[in-house]
Amino acid sequence: MLMKINTETIVKDNNSAIRNKSVDVTLPLSDEDRDLLLDMYNYVKNSTDKEIAEKENLQPAVGISAIQVGIGKKMMAIVIKNSEGKIVYQYAMANPKIISESVEKAYLAGGEGCLSVPDEHEGYVYRARRIKVKGYDLLTDKEVVIKAQDYLAIVFQHELDHFKGILYYDHIDKEDPFHVKENAYCLE
Ligand code: NI
Repeated sequence: MLMKINTETIVKDNNSAIRNKSVDVTLPLSDEDRDLLLDMYNYVKNSTDKEIAEKENLQPAVGISAIQVGIGKKMMAIVIKNSEGKIVYQYAMANPKIISESVEKAYLAGGEGCLSVPDEHEGYVYRARRIKVKGYDLLTDKEVVIKAQDYLAIVFQHELDHFKGILYYDHIDKEDPFHVKENAYCLE
């Protein structure tokens, strides 16, 4: 299966399907699931390449979950690059689960964004500062345990929320969107 993933085809939050819960995917991955996960990975990787993104109509992102292309399976891809455009973290995971998380929270000073959320929703999203994620990573073809902190931890939690049909703005305090929690680490 070849899926065209671009800004047009991504499921937005005006479609209730984005709230569907995702289910575990069978391992080893079927050819179809593997192709989908690779398409998702390539989307995220290419989306921050200006030239490709413009040509293929990709909105910049650091992560994507399968439900965002309409498939309710627990698969997600993350590609984080540094300011020079070099990849510092990349994962294409099936059935990732958080196996532990810190009490300490972290949040992005600029708030979060999402391919499925065209409108702006301002406010802080508090997440665990450190997590351990376990799952199958297609890029290394291994069961892995990833220790993630700060930005990577936030991105993982955002993507894993999609498995539960949760969007980032569900976490924003409606009464006080910029409420500063004590002992939460602020990422600029
Ligand atoms: Ni998202």
